[in-house]
Amino acid sequence: MSPTPKLPPVPKDNKFRQALGLGIGIWDYMEKNQREFGDTFTLTLPGQGPMVWTSNQKMIKDILNLKLEQIDASLVQLPMDLGEQNTVFLNDKAHQDSRKLVIPSFNTNRLKARAGVMHDIVTEHINSWKPGDKLNTPRLIGDITLDVICYTLFNLRHGERKERYKYLMLHWMLEATSDTMFTMASMVGARRFRQWMHKKYLKRTAARQPGDGKKGLLPWKRAVDLKVQLADMVREDIRAIRARNDAEETHTLSILARATDENGQLLSEERVISESIGLMIGGHETSAATAAWFMIWLQQRPDVNKKIHDEVIESIQKEGKFDALKVSELPYLTACLNESQRLTPSAVGFIRWLREDTQLGDWLIPAGTAVLPNIYLTHRDPATYGPDVLEYKPERWLDGRKFQPSEFLPFGGGRRACVGMNQARQQLRIIFAEFARRVEFTSEFQGTTGMPRSRMIGGQTEPEKGAWITVKSVRPESHGFIEEKQKLSA
Ligand code: HEM
Repeated sequence: MSPTPKLPPVPKDNKFRQALGLGIGIWDYMEKNQREFGDTFTLTLPGQGPMVWTSNQKMIKDILNLKLEQIDASLVQLPMDLGEQNTVFLNDKAHQDSRKLVIPSFNTNRLKARAGVMHDIVTEHINSWKPGDKLNTPRLIGDITLDVICYTLFNLRHGERKERYKYLMLHWMLEATSDTMFTMASMVGARRFRQWMHKKYLKRTAARQPGDGKKGLLPWKRAVDLKVQLADMVREDIRAIRARNDAEETHTLSILARATDENGQLLSEERVISESIGLMIGGHETSAATAAWFMIWLQQRPDVNKKIHDEVIESIQKEGKFDALKVSELPYLTACLNESQRLTPSAVGFIRWLREDTQLGDWLIPAGTAVLPNIYLTHRDPATYGPDVLEYKPERWLDGRKFQPSEFLPFGGGRRACVGMNQARQQLRIIFAEFARRVEFTSEFQGTTGMPRSRMIGGQTEPEKGAWITVKSVRPESHGFIEEKQKLSA
């Protein structure tokens, strides 16, 4: 007789309490369930099937090795209408083919070429600050990320068109990922909700009705309006790129607009629009949330910030300039960001829906279940990280020990791992290198220990009240250059 599939233990809390536990204070809720049930447990949320969360190494390794045909990504609980042909929702070969379209935009050579511009963008932001300015880290990094996306996706650095793109991207993302939209999608089923939104978008586009931009009583109305306008701009750009047909162009939209499918046909405009806006959304709140936690660690640990400062200055003096690429590879800075993503990852887990009964570790999990490697608890496992697991200690990344893909997974893993990982890391390292070198901040986090409570924003875990900082002083761009040192000592 074949064994019967079975779900790991379920908390006694009713579905709404469980949803609340995930929405506000998700880390505490994960720890509470771990204390009660150990490394693997099942949550059942309103309108959704069972979700098995695990920090068991054997089980995570099996999840990372799942074959494409064993999982169904179209069930992902995202409310935003990216178009169902987007990489995130595709399955099987279609998914792998789709990734191949996107990945060339993030290859090493392209990233190398972009590092300098990323640095210019950060410099423009820093140069505009003065002592006393109050900034909320996630929103600040969100804004820098939009500047980077305008450059990498559309090759736009300044001007009206860029500002219009930024406005539409930001407002569409805010509307499309609001709590209301997540709630509605979980009530009717996310895929159905997205398809319904997509029909509205196509109808408006065909009728040339971009909408009035007003929210009104219908919460989805503005999201549809904004998407129609955003997609219109992308469509214009796709047509212009195709008319130019210039193989020298390397920004992401040009790569997608000129890409062909397996039959040698150009991708449909809707498909290119879908992938483009997927990339906008993929990097935005994720980077904002990651940066918010990192900023809090650095505020709590001025000694760490000072070491980053010194490492960057040393690099400048060695290279004779701020070499953004070299800076983005500095070992101590890299270790500090890793350590922040270890203890305070922006994604608590990543999800795989099982199409069939599947043996994962010691559990035979039934078909239809969602399984999630629990990033937060995995990163806090003393069996992997040792007895000082809860300490923020960048040195653990420098002592020669390498952590396995199943032990450190802030960007997910396996064949669906984050495609933007290298770009996101590069961008965050350049930003925080320049903050440490040039800006002194103050904040309520100085002298504190422990992290503020978390809440979900756009599917990411962020500090409940943001991470507000005040600019204390801004050093000149020349800070740390040899000439500057000589000037000071003269
Ligand atoms: C610190 C920043 C970021 C974090 C923490 C992050 C995290 C993640 C995670 C956890 C996943 C799920 C992976 C899985 O299921 O195994 C993911 C997927 C994805 N990310 Fe990121 N991400 C970040 C930045 C970016 C950026 C900058 C982009 C693009 C510009 C991007 C594009 C994507 C895409 C397209 C996917 C879906 C991949 C697929 O389904 O095959 N991400 N990301």
